[in-house]
Amino acid sequence: MEQADLVILGAGAAGLFCAGSACRQGRRILVLDHARNPAEKIRISGGGRCNFTNLATAPDRFLSQNPRFAASALSRYRPEQFVRLIEGAGIAWHEKTQGQLFCDGKATQVTGMLLDRMKGAELRLETALCRVSHDGTGFVIETDKGHIATSRVVVATGGKSIPKMGATGFAYDIARQFGLRIVDTRAGLVPLTFAEQDLARCRPLAGVAVEAEIRHNGGRFRDALLFTHRGLSGPVILQISSYWQPGESLEIDLAPGHDVAADLKAMRAQAGRMTPGSALGRILPARLATAICAEMGLADARLADQPNARLDQVGARINRWQVRPVGTEGYRTAEVTMGGVDTRDLDARTLQARRVPGLSFIGECVDVTGWLGGYNFQWAWASADAAGRAP
Ligand code: FDA
Repeated sequence: MEQADLVILGAGAAGLFCAGSACRQGRRILVLDHARNPAEKIRISGGGRCNFTNLATAPDRFLSQNPRFAASALSRYRPEQFVRLIEGAGIAWHEKTQGQLFCDGKATQVTGMLLDRMKGAELRLETALCRVSHDGTGFVIETDKGHIATSRVVVATGGKSIPKMGATGFAYDIARQFGLRIVDTRAGLVPLTFAEQDLARCRPLAGVAVEAEIRHNGGRFRDALLFTHRGLSGPVILQISSYWQPGESLEIDLAPGHDVAADLKAMRAQAGRMTPGSALGRILPARLATAICAEMGLADARLADQPNARLDQVGARINRWQVRPVGTEGYRTAEVTMGGVDTRDLDARTLQARRVPGLSFIGECVDVTGWLGGYNFQWAWASADAAGRAP
């Protein structure tokens, strides 16, 4: 049977990085993946420019049943170290906003750098993984192209998001098979959907973007919100989707930094003949302002005729908009999978299963999920480095 010192399952961000960190003279490392190309998610990430890290990386930017778990790996592999690799490979980059670093050119440059870095490791694509077992002395990986014996396995097959791109629940199956616990999985960083009655109001607004602030279950984000044909999207919605649970309502501030009722009262005092729609148009995108006035029966009104109580209602509709999503767009469009391999069963320094020496889980399959903005790749690099360097 073919022998290897280390077999990495999954040639995504974490798997490729782990291979690079594990490379040492004379060590036989295999990276296996069923896909035709490695790291397909890197290719499409960040709108094709890969938001490869975030300078503000800290454990509080991650969701997990154990928020402290990620701290060890994250502190030992910092964003600056990844930036040095990027620069060493001659890849031009820029900071977009809030510490988010993107390539100036194509995301595939990052994959190229990762492949160059894993010198000596062998990448085997289009290889179906059939079974992983332990025969008492070591692991046996059964693939459609033969069996491989090894003393170390790193599972880096990611989460369930975007099945169309080859995502599977394979990592969770292996974890369960070896007795590790799984924190329930669900789609994260994902657009939210509305029931038909709310959609009827929102559909005409599809394409309108507005800055919004949402606080929910401990998460607080201020960023762009986008109305879609199915509900709401945009960075602020993707962020809060990771904190939202089915059945919960959200309160959205569509004009953060403005006390809309107070602004309308001030405008009423100065220009009472103005319509509420024109007044709101100074605070919100015109289409949204018009739609809210129509919804509240103020399409043809004058500001001067509106009592304080009415302007307070308009203010509340904008500063404290109550919505009740019916669900999310699910794994079909989710950027990440929340939950996963329970960190209680993993060693934080090496990502090895506590009760199965030689078996590690890294990247998205672990119950560590970052905010939007490069944090998930930073977790992939950091967890992969920790597992790759482990003796
Ligand atoms: P990843 O999914 O990258 O890799 C898993 C690999 O395992 C794949 O190659 C897959 O083919 C393989 N595999 C799965 N099941 C298998 C099986 N049964 N047999 C064999 N192989 C199998 N994050 C970020 O920080 N910045 C960003 O800009 C973006 N942008 C972004 C855009 C979009 C559209 C998505 C969907 C996601 C992002 N992300 C992101 C998230 C980021 O892509 C994600 O967190 C990492 O890719 C996770 O890396 P992993 O290596 O763990 O899994």
